[in-house]
This record gives sequence, structure tokens and C-alpha cells, in this order.
Amino acid sequence: MVKLFKSLADVTRLRLVAILAQGEFTVSELTDILAMGQSRISRHLKILLDAGIVTVQRQGTWSYFRLDGKNNYFQQLCPTILEYLATDGVYPADQQGITRILDERQRKSRDFFDHHAREWDRLAKEMIAADRYQGALLEQLGQVETVVDVGVGTGSLLGDLSLRARQVIGIDHSPSMLNEARTRVENKQLVNVDLRLGEMTHLPVADHSADALILNMVLHHAPHPPTVFNELRRVLRPGGKVLIAELERHQLEWFRDRLADQWLGFTRQELTDWLQLAGYRLVNLKLMKNSNKLPAVQVLTAELIDQEEYNQ
Ligand SMILES: C[S@@+](CC[C@H](N)C(=O)[O-])C[C@H]1O[C@@H](n2cnc3c(N)ncnc32)[C@H](O)[C@@H]1O
Repeated sequence: MVKLFKSLADVTRLRLVAILAQGEFTVSELTDILAMGQSRISRHLKILLDAGIVTVQRQGTWSYFRLDGKNNYFQQLCPTILEYLATDGVYPADQQGITRILDERQRKSRDFFDHHAREWDRLAKEMIAADRYQGALLEQLGQVETVVDVGVGTGSLLGDLSLRARQVIGIDHSPSMLNEARTRVENKQLVNVDLRLGEMTHLPVADHSADALILNMVLHHAPHPPTVFNELRRVLRPGGKVLIAELERHQLEWFRDRLADQWLGFTRQELTDWLQLAGYRLVNLKLMKNSNKLPAVQVLTAELIDQEEYNQ
């Protein structure tokens, strides 16, 4: 406990705690947010690591720092620290820095898809073997009233979704990807599909209006994935479900370079922790191994926990 309090007895380290409470960042991003030298930030991070407040995980050649969710004692203290820091003079500048970094992650992803929309279907086949796992995802859907395909891309699932739902809403933040999806909808004459421009953290969908949400290879583009689940909860009807297809954590750096992936997949633990925290129960998980040196794909289905049960 002494080590923990000693490590917190410094304003920069408290600021780091407040920043990491809002996402995972690299040293270089933290340097940008705090406007301090890299060696100074690294020294402070080392102290927080040694005290068990922060953990680090490698993704390819990058290392991301985050608060250690398993440090229960610190978790209890954290709200008090954040409350205190919100009154500090540097707080607005730190918040602006965080927003700048998260916006930049979002912009990178959108630019990539705007430039590669025409060739996306080929890339998806070659690099994530999309045709091999999509059946498993659709199997989990069943027949529903309204389904929302979040990050719909060129709409590879729209034909199948259109047969399984009365209403299909496809959302994407890349206008070029949406144009490709629109062409597909017109060619296939899918009359129950509605395409909308929007962000996965601010979905242009009414509260509690969807029975199912699909995130097919989308979460690894989110600037801060855990926050996405809160927005999904807003649009889901009670008892609604979320279907996710995501890469298993891998170390193939070229996914970042050639596909603009923000995260090199996720561990099963990460996904289930985020779901649980946001009020979902995992009901199905399938791991689809890939033979040709590509990362395995996790297909997850989670359902919304009853609000009363969630509040307890
Ligand atoms: C890897 S593609 C997958 C497309 C489609 N789901 C599929 O599997 O064919 C990721 C898609 O998510 C979209 N996307 C990424 N970040 C997004 C965000 N923050 N909000 C909305 N769409 C986003 C991209 O524009 C892109 O179309």
C-alpha cells in the first residue's frame, strides 16, 4: 500500500492515471498529450508499472499502457483521484490532448477506407479470409425485426441480413465504403436496407430500436473499443444481442500498415471483460482457426443483461 501511495504522490503520475482511465496510449501519444519529454514520461510510467497501477501490452512493435483493471484496491481509489483531477488547472488541456489523439485514430481509419473502398472486397478475402467465418456469424442471428450492421463497409453481409430481418440498417463513417454498399443494395434490389453515414460511438439510430447489432471486423478500428459497447447498449432493445467477428490478438505488424488496423486483434479476455462491464452476457463463442498464417477469428454472441440485474 505504501508503494501505491508513494507512486501516486506526484501530479504528473496522477495526470497519467486520469488519461489512462480514458483509453490505452503509447508513450509517444502520452508525450503529445502531456507536452513533456519521452524519457520523463517513461520514468513516471515505470513507477506506475512497478506499483501495479498500470500494465503494458505489446502489439507488434508498439506498446500500449492502460490502467490495471485487476488492481482492486486502486480501482476503489480511482474515482476519487479522477474527481480531484477534474478540478485541476491542467485538466482541460489533457482532455483536449486525449480528444486529439482519439480523433486522429478515427481519421486515419476513415481515410484508409475512403481510399481503398473499391478494392476492399478483394483485400477482405485475401487478408482476413472473410468468406470463411461469415456463415458462423449469420448462424447466430436467427430471424429478427431490426438489425444494425455497424461499420457495414461495402455491405458484404447485406444480402443475407436482408433475408433475416424486416429492417436492415447499415452504418459506416466512410462515404466511399457506403457508396460501394449502396451500389450493392441497388444491384441486388434490397428494398429493406437503409444505409446511413455515422460513427460507431454516435450511431444515427433511435434508443432501444434494434434487436441485433453486428460488428464484423470493425472493433479493431475503434479509437477506444470499450466505449463502443455503451453506445450499442443505448440502441438495443431489452433482450437484444450483439454479434461480433474479431481477429484474435496477433502480432502481424503489416495489418496496421496495410489495413490501417488500430488494434492487432483482441484477446478473448479483453472482449469478454468489456462486454461484461457494459452489461452484456456472453452466450456463444466460436474460434475459427485460419490455416494460411492469418490470425484466427473469434465469433461472439452476447445478449443484453436485464437492466435491474445490471444495476445490482
Ligand atoms: C474492416 S472493414 C469491415 C467492413 C464490413 N463490416 C465487412 O466485414 O465487410 C471496417 C469498416 O468499419 C468502418 N469504420 C471504422 N471505424 C468506424 C467508426 N468509428 N464508425 C463507423 N464506421 C467505422 C470502416 O469505414 C470500414 O468500412
